[in-house]
Amino acid sequence: MAREKEPGLYSEKVMDHFMHPRNCGEIPDASGIGTVGNPICGDVMKMFLKIENNVIVDVKFKTFGCGAAVATSSMVTEMVKGKTIEEALRISNKAVAEALGGLPPVKMHCSVLAEEALRSALSDYYRRQGKEPPFEEKSSNHEGHAH
Ligand code: FES
Repeated sequence: MAREKEPGLYSEKVMDHFMHPRNCGEIPDASGIGTVGNPICGDVMKMFLKIENNVIVDVKFKTFGCGAAVATSSMVTEMVKGKTIEEALRISNKAVAEALGGLPPVKMHCSVLAEEALRSALSDYYRRQGKEPPFEEKSSNHEGHAH
């Protein structure tokens, strides 16, 4: 079988989200937009949120990055859709990686991009209303590297 010849670096779920990313694109009338770059590799992710009554009713992303970055972006959009802001903030990069069936250790830094893009878009949402975001823009529970 062809599968046996693959290096097996990524889980099937990662490959699925990489090949068929969910919620890819832009939201023209977004309530908040976050753009972050990965300091390790230079890859970039942009996330668009539509928020109504404190609930994320729509989310889209654009990622210029590796397979793990695309897959984690895709997965995080699925995880936050329909969630309140508070619930979305509790989703860590580790939880996203776990939902994908795990990431190779050298790729954990890629999942940080998805979490930070989400937090950055939520911060933008607060700032647009003239409020300071009630959370740190960068979370402190990352694996793999320090900020
Ligand atoms: S190598 Fe850049 S985000 Fe994965």
